[in-house]
Amino acid sequence: MDYVDLFASDGKCELDAELETPLRWDGSALLAVKMSKDYRNRWTCYLNELKSDVFAMLRDNLKTYEPWDGELFNEDANVVIDKILSKINPDYPSLFFIDPQKHSDLPWKTIDKIANHVGYENRRPEMIINLMTTGMQRNLDKAPESISLALGMSEDAWRKIIETEYKSGKTYHEAFRDIYCAKLFQIYGINPVYLSVENKKESTVFYLIAISSRDLGNKILSSLTKCVEGYKKDRWSKELSDIEIQIDVAKMKKGGQRFISEY
Ligand SMILES: C[S@@+](CC[C@H](N)C(=O)[O-])C[C@H]1O[C@@H](n2cnc3c(N)ncnc32)[C@H](O)[C@@H]1O
Repeated sequence: MDYVDLFASDGKCELDAELETPLRWDGSALLAVKMSKDYRNRWTCYLNELKSDVFAMLRDNLKTYEPWDGELFNEDANVVIDKILSKINPDYPSLFFIDPQKHSDLPWKTIDKIANHVGYENRRPEMIINLMTTGMQRNLDKAPESISLALGMSEDAWRKIIETEYKSGKTYHEAFRDIYCAKLFQIYGINPVYLSVENKKESTVFYLIAISSRDLGNKILSSLTKCVEGYKKDRWSKELSDIEIQIDVAKMKKGGQRFISEY
């Protein structure tokens, strides 16, 4: 299988808090390479990161896993995509993880290229896309052209849809999600699966949208919601409250307090 991470970052995630020992965990790129090794290098991992300093850290972080099967790229995802697609045989399974920081980093054009990398029996790549709806909502009036680019539609066209949907009770982020899913449906002929990723106040920050052209692929991707719900119920709430306690303690220490009673 070919695995592509177009916005790979440095392979490590760090909680941006005032902790003495910040919480760190493996990011998507490292997880993919690790997993590929668990499957005896049966995946070829193509990992790309634009920023050169972040890219250098990614290369360093991956040294522990050498040798691994794949390639690193230090380019704009929307440019390197042609090079990567030329290396991928569309007759075999491929999975693209597309996790930009903001909606404007991911023009629809790139998604369209991936979706139309068609192989035998209409096989198309599988994708998991992070659709940053918060940024889209914030830029409705400030930078509507960035939304047109992300959706591959004229401003008139998307505005008409979201205003109609809004009047019938949908939120703007739901309307953007549905436009995106409808565009993927037009190509794949299958409805994508989506998952809302929320902040602590339970409002949607972004959507994870997943699509496959294969029944088995869709079955697996459909279990995404169940998986995340289960994780939320079993571990997430506890982990979150542990983190909150650690942050509070870190803040107290920074403020010179030594005992809970002083807080
Ligand atoms: C949200 S982070 C990815 C996090 C990663 N998936 C993880 O689990 O650790 C997005 C990354 O994309 C990079 N980036 C931004 N614009 C880019 C572009 N046009 N092409 C490639 N990478 C880009 C950023 O520098 C950042 O490291």
